[in-house]
Amino acid sequence: FEIYLDGLAGRRPAFPTDLTMLEEAARARMEPEAFGYVSGGAGSGATVRANREAFDRWRIVPRMLRDVSKRDLGTTVLGTAMPAPVMTAPVGVLSIAHPEGELAVARAAASLGVPIVLSTAASYTMEEVAEAGGDGPRWYQLYWPKDRDLAISLLSRAEAAGYSALVVTLDTWMLAWRPRDLDHAYLPFLRGVGVANYFSDPAFRAGLARPPEEDVQAAVLRWADQFADPRKTWADLAFLREHWRGPIALKGILHPDDARRAVDAGMDGIVVSNHGGRQVDGSVGALDALPGVVAAVGDRAEVLLDSGVRTGADVVKALALGARAVLVGRPYAYGLALGGEDGVRHVLRCLLAELDLTLALSGQTTIAELNPGLLAPA
Ligand code: FNR
Repeated sequence: FEIYLDGLAGRRPAFPTDLTMLEEAARARMEPEAFGYVSGGAGSGATVRANREAFDRWRIVPRMLRDVSKRDLGTTVLGTAMPAPVMTAPVGVLSIAHPEGELAVARAAASLGVPIVLSTAASYTMEEVAEAGGDGPRWYQLYWPKDRDLAISLLSRAEAAGYSALVVTLDTWMLAWRPRDLDHAYLPFLRGVGVANYFSDPAFRAGLARPPEEDVQAAVLRWADQFADPRKTWADLAFLREHWRGPIALKGILHPDDARRAVDAGMDGIVVSNHGGRQVDGSVGALDALPGVVAAVGDRAEVLLDSGVRTGADVVKALALGARAVLVGRPYAYGLALGGEDGVRHVLRCLLAELDLTLALSGQTTIAELNPGLLAPA
């Protein structure tokens, strides 16, 4: 409504309100290497497309005459209250999109009460981002490093900085074959972007002969060695339980059996995700994998979803199929590139407003009442 009123005064929105158009707008603004890194997927891009196609295979069947004058989108996920079932996905190296990177994201999200999930690979330290976000809700995403002391140090820093839940990413023990980045010979980490949390860490620094400020090369090599540990198995999850007091969610689960194992290992949440199609090219679309995971865990864990969420209707579909909340990735990174903090706020506000309208027009007043009966196969 605000937008239409502005229109009477001759003002148009500064950024596209169709979030599927943001990518094109951002392409024109960003360095080609940075745009390629954010927008790109693994291999042929089949899974990036599969994520969108999965949403297109479901249709909402709106219900009428149900008094939708009062609506409440609020929910609680892993103990965190939020105004709507939407969070920002952990996206690293955001200073390649805008110099204020994750700081701008934290400010924009906090201004709306939207929780952030901060990446281990952020351009700013978790303490700097926590300060920028103030009282805003925040979770921490762990890339689980090889070194035990480094992992423990990252976890205790996150707890001290007020990150209330832990999201452990399991699908990125190594970076996938990403042709756009390979063609550009571009990996931001090697240029010292996305390593702030490691370089500032006492346990990381203890493993170096000279501090990163004096020998960036050696520090980046240690980062590459430490970043993640492909030898990890289910047996290692006990370590996380031991060193993290709050709720833990595993991100990157797509198979129902893995979801069951996660719950059996005492995990509190699961993020159904294929990393936005950036890891296993040809893997199943995230929304396609959701019902199987939801059926496998029942109410023993909270299930979230990301990968391909672009519209309010997408959020409704994911929730109707059993997700408690969704995370959105690239769209807010594009908003950041286009307009810093304002651009991120724009993206989140558009998504929340579109979600609210879609619910109302579909005859729904709360998200708790959403169920598969609201959907029909396309
Ligand atoms: C990511 N993603 C990601 N995930 C994670 O756990 N840690 C990280 O550091 C990153 N970094 C990252 C960088 C960039 C540029 C992108 C696009 C994505 C994956 C992210 O959390 C999420 O799973 C996907 O972005 C969701 O898909 P959409 O919304 O981008 O389609």
